[in-house]
Amino acid sequence: MNFETLLLEQREPGIYLLTINRPQALNALSPRVIAELTSALASLQADAGVRALLVTGAGDKAFVAGADIAAMSAMSPLEGRAFSLAALGLMRGLEAAPFPAIALVNGYALGGGCELALACDWIVAAENAQFGQPEVSLGICPGFGGTQRLPRLVGRAMALEMCVAGRAIKAPEALRIGLVNHVVPAAGLMEKGLELARAIAARGPVAVGLTKHLIQHGQDLDLENALRLEADNFAVLCATGDKREGMAAFLEKRKPNFTGQ
Ligand code: CAA
Repeated sequence: MNFETLLLEQREPGIYLLTINRPQALNALSPRVIAELTSALASLQADAGVRALLVTGAGDKAFVAGADIAAMSAMSPLEGRAFSLAALGLMRGLEAAPFPAIALVNGYALGGGCELALACDWIVAAENAQFGQPEVSLGICPGFGGTQRLPRLVGRAMALEMCVAGRAIKAPEALRIGLVNHVVPAAGLMEKGLELARAIAARGPVAVGLTKHLIQHGQDLDLENALRLEADNFAVLCATGDKREGMAAFLEKRKPNFTGQ
């Protein structure tokens, strides 16, 4: 597919790289970027061969420096709502995708950029990464899910400090508070992402998708229903070819050859 603001490429079998490609605006998320990300994600979701998605920003300065301030400055309340809902739909789509998404944060991840990273399943940060929700400095609140995903990930106290006081944090602190999974030198960011993606791609694809779903959605249920959801998904996986193959391979002391069936 051809995009104006994105690059989408297959890096290795089953492993795709999506790059937000507006380095002149620090990869800011305009309505067009959101629309293109949504259609790129739809095409990836329609492809049963996708095992993992890496998401990053073009250039060495920013992952994404936020929603596009120039575009938002002209928005009416209804346009602002439509923009927020479109982006929230994209973030929900990332969470609901059957393959994990890994954000490779190579610099600023501010506002909508931090929120995009939060909607991915893993965050790997370069040493120069910086995370923040500076929207209150612009007289608005986060609009792409930051007020809800950030406290769920790092707790209420840090989320309040970042969203209400607008304090940005650097990669080591992001690692300490559990916002990111790994911090690596900028030159090693892609390789670390590929290493994680390869590990995911080697597992049973149906099991990966359902396990991701359990962790993403189970937290919003009460414990009893969440545990029941786990049992139901466990039952579904017992009926798959991947389960037969995974267990046969273990018993025959060989590597499994999963087909995603
Ligand atoms: N939207 C639109 N353009 C942006 C942008 C954004 N979020 N962030 C940076 N840019 C543009 C700048 O306007 C500039 O363009 P020009 O060269 O045409 O002037 C270019 O990118 C380079 O930026 P700077 O010259 O500002 O680069 P810097 O190194 O001096 O500063 C920065 C970098 C600290 C990240 C600074 O650009 C900045 O503060 N950006 C805005 C960050 C921000 O407030 N993000 C939150 C946006 S609101 C939001 O995201 C709402 C939501 O949740 C829905």
